[in-house]
Amino acid sequence: MKKDKVVLAYSGGVDTSVGVRWLQEEKGLDVIALTVDIGQGAELAAIKKKADRLGAVKSLVVDAKDKFCNEYLSKAIKANAMYEGRYVHSTSLNRPCIVEIMVDVARKEGAKYIAHGSTGKGNDQVRFEVSAMALAPELETIAFAREWGMTRDEEIEYAKKHNIPIPVTAENPYSIDLAVWGKSTECGILEDPWAEPPEDAHTWVTPLHKTPDEPEYIVLTFKLGVPVALDGRRMKLFTIISKLNDVAARHGIGLTDMVENRLVGIKSRETYEAPAAAVILRAHSDLESLVLTRDAAHYKRLIEERYSELIYDGLWFSELREYLDAFIDASQEKVNGKVRMKLFKGNAVVVGRKSPQALYSHGLATYDRGDEFDHTAAKGFISIWGLPHKVDAVVRGKKRK
Ligand code: ARG
Repeated sequence: MKKDKVVLAYSGGVDTSVGVRWLQEEKGLDVIALTVDIGQGAELAAIKKKADRLGAVKSLVVDAKDKFCNEYLSKAIKANAMYEGRYVHSTSLNRPCIVEIMVDVARKEGAKYIAHGSTGKGNDQVRFEVSAMALAPELETIAFAREWGMTRDEEIEYAKKHNIPIPVTAENPYSIDLAVWGKSTECGILEDPWAEPPEDAHTWVTPLHKTPDEPEYIVLTFKLGVPVALDGRRMKLFTIISKLNDVAARHGIGLTDMVENRLVGIKSRETYEAPAAAVILRAHSDLESLVLTRDAAHYKRLIEERYSELIYDGLWFSELREYLDAFIDASQEKVNGKVRMKLFKGNAVVVGRKSPQALYSHGLATYDRGDEFDHTAAKGFISIWGLPHKVDAVVRGKKRK
């Protein structure tokens, strides 16, 4: 009898490697192992070979680096997307993109199922499954790591029994997820929120005591709210992000250590290394300050907050996200120009900005000669602005608290 097919999001790690065999043995499925390249920089050829060795009927590596940058990260940049004010979504943005490719492959291959290796207490299971439900309601998802209920030791036992090669090196105590927009790290000693992360927890961002003693300057050029050039050289977004990851990491920029509220109700301590994201988001919002009116800028913050929650909560493929994108895209028409930044000892500081659409007017702002601001108009403005409060004070007839 012909077997049903499953498309598995394959990372090459222990869980998904055991998953290949488990889906064959326990579920009787033909496994198509899919690795989506979104800039994780891993040895993708080796991952593919491993999937073949494990008996996947097919293994695929799909290069989605530009798709990820142009269709996901560009939107997140325009939205200054940060969950709880700090987390740049280095993991949450990856999932919908991976699912988009999985769904494509599943349809081409006539697969009935897709499978992921996320556990039952994280956000990623939600993102995988809700994205799949929204894109391909006909597909069923198998969350094997949630289903099999094996501990890490049992998994290793299972791997030995089934001849699944697992790394013999001393096990990395951390759970890591990485792609071009950043690296997320949890577990091990990090589960104690009082414990300072040991140096080995972070492999991207240079510790401050080892960063250069000289600052470095960069210039980012934005068009319609998205970076298009670095130091005057036009590059695709993936290249800009990759280069900035190197430069900013060298100066100790982009490390976040936080306790966050997971969608599934747990508080977790996680650290993030996202050097390029730190630089780009800082630059982007600074440029917005130069070109957007006060009202628009302030209102956009509310939209950004909601947008970030949608990303975090696995609702990338939702009606509301499309409507919020319409607002955000409209707001970015004027976000063109350059931002100059100084990178030094963990900080990415904006030191200059300019735009053909700048609303900044030297004549209006200056305290020196050439002042064009009508000082006499301020008097009338204040008397009307303060009027309701003056009337209120008279009626109250007593001192304010
Ligand atoms: N807490 C982050 C999120 O929910 C990252 C999750 C994955 N992290 C990891 N270290 N494997 O988006």
